Amino acid sequence: MAADDGLVTDLDFAELARVAAIEACVFPEPLDLPTLEKLFRDPAVRYLAIREEGRLAAYFGFQVCGPTAHVIANATDPAFRQRGYGGRILVEAEPVALGMGARWFLGEVRRSNEPQRRVLRRIGWREIGMSLGFFGNGEDAYVVFRSFREATWP
Ligand SMILES: CC(C)(COP(=O)(O)OP(=O)(O)OC[C@H]1O[C@@H](n2cnc3c(N)ncnc32)[C@H](O)[C@@H]1OP(=O)(O)O)[C@@H](O)C(=O)NCCC(=O)NCCS
Repeated sequence: MAADDGLVTDLDFAELARVAAIEACVFPEPLDLPTLEKLFRDPAVRYLAIREEGRLAAYFGFQVCGPTAHVIANATDPAFRQRGYGGRILVEAEPVALGMGARWFLGEVRRSNEPQRRVLRRIGWREIGMSLGFFGNGEDAYVVFRSFREATWP
């Protein structure tokens, strides 16, 4: 067992090729390696990772702009699903994004993406709207939101 197995830590630049491979496998509109490398070098962007036996199991990338940490993507390698990684990496990213000056996460989830919607509901994210035809293939998006320090509302 590797020392950082199951822990949420920063993604290494060298792992971006694996991120690109996972993206190509799980997303209809994946980011390619040059795009990921450019994002990774942006100081407002952070990529977090969970590994098992030194292998990338899950990752989460977001970009901070003022109080908003915008979700770039999160995914769990299909071989490592249903172990809690998808939810945990998002939860543990909250203090990281807070430390970068953000106050909430904002993202877009495909209407058909029931697994991600369930994970987000479980960890307290809310669907605050829908954007019709948001994605490149015309699919609608739920706009999803998670405040890091949420008061009871309404
Ligand atoms: C959505 C996604 C990230 C979820 O990843 P995951 O690591 O499987 O997520 P979790 O393990 O936290 O939760 C998934 C399920 O496993 C269950 N689970 C969590 N820990 C578990 C455990 N120890 N044993 C069994 N099941 C477990 C959760 O309760 C959850 O069940 P539910 O769907 O019925 O609520 C993954 O399906 C994925 O990569 N999809 C493709 C990419 C994508 O759509 N990303 C989001 C848009 S950017």
